[in-house]
Amino acid sequence: MNFVVLDDLVSDAESRFSAATDLVTLENEKAYFFGKKGIFTKLFKEIKNLNFDEKRKHGNKINQIKKKIEHLLTKYRKIFNEAELNKLLTEESIDVTLPGRGTSLGSVHPIMQSWKRIEEIFCSFGFDIIDGPEIEDDWTNFTALNNALDHPARSMQDTFYIDINDDQGLPLLLRTHTSPMQVRHAKMNHPPIKIIAPGKTYRIDNDSTHSPMFHQIEGLWISDNISFSHLKGIYTNFLHCFFETDNISVRFRPSFFPFTEPSAEIDMKFTTGPNKNQWMEISGSGQVHPKVMLNFGLDPKRYIGFAFGSGLERLTMLRYGINDLRQFYEGDLRFARQFSK
Ligand code: PHE
Repeated sequence: MNFVVLDDLVSDAESRFSAATDLVTLENEKAYFFGKKGIFTKLFKEIKNLNFDEKRKHGNKINQIKKKIEHLLTKYRKIFNEAELNKLLTEESIDVTLPGRGTSLGSVHPIMQSWKRIEEIFCSFGFDIIDGPEIEDDWTNFTALNNALDHPARSMQDTFYIDINDDQGLPLLLRTHTSPMQVRHAKMNHPPIKIIAPGKTYRIDNDSTHSPMFHQIEGLWISDNISFSHLKGIYTNFLHCFFETDNISVRFRPSFFPFTEPSAEIDMKFTTGPNKNQWMEISGSGQVHPKVMLNFGLDPKRYIGFAFGSGLERLTMLRYGINDLRQFYEGDLRFARQFSK
């Protein structure tokens, strides 16, 4: 080995490192000097065979040169690192002067818009809002509400039963109306009770006017000195607020529900506008049946109660002029977008 050429190694390294095009090629050049088969490995092997003085002399020299080349390597690594970073920065830079893409906000489903509106209106009348489970037991959904055991509404053709019973052995089902929420609330609270209970309800039905899942809003008002006229006053006021017009007439038409006596269907008609003077059924209602009052744990001689149950779909269709119920649940964005605010 000619140790005189050692000095040339530094300039050789300089030209090799500076000729590298990126970090990868630079690392290849590093291997040329420091790799397993690199120049320095060879040099150190060779000096092993020299005598002590020579070993010292050349060893020192080799180490000096090695250090210089290592410095060079560090210098070039830095240069290439910076170059790569700069390249990334320019590639990924964002042109803040480009016009924005715009953001689109989703919209609240019309049924939910009605739901919230109705809550606000009844809250302003002093009603509380309550909630209850969609999976109900058959006692709360039917029996407590004075539905005879052979009442057709209980039949498998109308009600979605669930294949399990609750921990008291009662059959479970998807609630067929929001009225069971009356039961749950009245059992746990003392009159005066003034609540609405909106929610999803389920029946085995599917055509242009029925959906297996639909929404109702239940109202219950129990006190010791109220009459049907209170219910009529509140409900008429509600309709005026909901439809934002006083040009609405309301009538109570005798009807039947097992849990109210007397019972009435609430009809309404607009007295102006395109559909004027057409009576439309809008809600069931009635005076809480004494047997139901007992099931609430309340004395029917002391308390009097009024209840109503209205379809949210119906109210929403009338408010927005929608004529096919199925549109609510088809998920067509063109339909949904019409209700964005
Ligand atoms: N639960 C009845 C229905 O689903 C509506 C109703 C509620 C009637 C409260 C009277 C009183 O049709």
